[in-house]
Amino acid sequence: MIDVSKVAVIGAGLLGHGIAQEFATAGFDVGLHDLSEEILAQAKANMARNLQTLAEAGLVDGGLAESVPGQVRTSTDLEEVVRDADFVIEAVSEDLPLKQRVFGELDRLCRRHTILASNSSTFMPSSLASATGRPDKVLVTHYFNPPYLVPAVEIVRHEGTSDETFDTAFALFQQIGKRPVRVQKEALGFIGNRLQAALVRECFSLVEKGIASAEDIDAVVRYGLGRRLSVAGPLEIADVAGLDIYSTLMSHILPDLDAATSPPQALAENVREGNLGVKTGQGTYSWTPESSEETRQRIANALIEIQKWSA
Ligand SMILES: NC(=O)c1ccc[n+]([C@@H]2O[C@H](COP(=O)([O-])OP(=O)(O)OC[C@H]3O[C@@H](n4cnc5c(N)ncnc54)[C@H](O)[C@@H]3O)[C@@H](O)[C@H]2O)c1
Repeated sequence: MIDVSKVAVIGAGLLGHGIAQEFATAGFDVGLHDLSEEILAQAKANMARNLQTLAEAGLVDGGLAESVPGQVRTSTDLEEVVRDADFVIEAVSEDLPLKQRVFGELDRLCRRHTILASNSSTFMPSSLASATGRPDKVLVTHYFNPPYLVPAVEIVRHEGTSDETFDTAFALFQQIGKRPVRVQKEALGFIGNRLQAALVRECFSLVEKGIASAEDIDAVVRYGLGRRLSVAGPLEIADVAGLDIYSTLMSHILPDLDAATSPPQALAENVREGNLGVKTGQGTYSWTPESSEETRQRIANALIEIQKWSA
């Protein structure tokens, strides 16, 4: 396995700042790159806020909110951030030509042994590996938002990813306290987003058919399915319930489920009209800056509570 002591994160947005924060908290030498000093300064402020929240919950030392952001080396010069790195995590916007360009640059600037990982939610590792001369050292390491509060990271290999790269990435995420998961064959959406897409498609379909309101559908997931899913996986739950019951249930229900292969109409229409959710103030629900911050905080606080009792 490759010895990793220096980590670089490319893109300091919603995901990138949290990824850099975790590696720095775990004692790694971390570099962070984005396009402007303003974005990098905001990323450091976000790290301090996240760590302050964790400290108030008693999960980390209070001093980290001050020390960690200062330990992360930031620069708008890509080369400065990646030239010494052993492991690079790309977290720029979800745009394939952009990511391929970044991977080409990383291949040119990084040392020969450096592993190049992408946090992409949708693009296959092979489509990024092809932009480099080191396909054996390319893979996806997919986080869930907020990265510093959700333990799972999907480690996704493509056919050409070496065992050394795959094992190094797995061990690295274990070392910083994440719960890495091996995805042995690349597949669109990996595991998490495939499951999420199936669930969300059915949620929109239930609203469209007038079976229940968005609020009530969300309530069934929050107070029903979701309560169980944070403590036992769906396949485990099926075993507990009895596979005979699941078999009967599925043979009745599956023919009636939505099997559309394009985004639900309401979702597509909202996007066409510029209703993107909290970003624009309107999505399935209406949002104010206060209600979106309240929701962000509610999710963070609940995830912290789960982290406390599952630690
Ligand atoms: N948002 C989520 O819930 C989520 C979850 C898992 C994975 N992801 C993935 O993480 C990646 C980043 O998503 P995000 O939500 O943090 O997006 P974001 O828009 O918050 O951040 C993207 C950052 O990339 C920067 N950027 C754009 N081009 C760049 C370049 N050439 N060089 C350096 N920086 C550049 C932008 O300035 C921005 O700060 C995407 O691939 C996304 O699919 C997102």
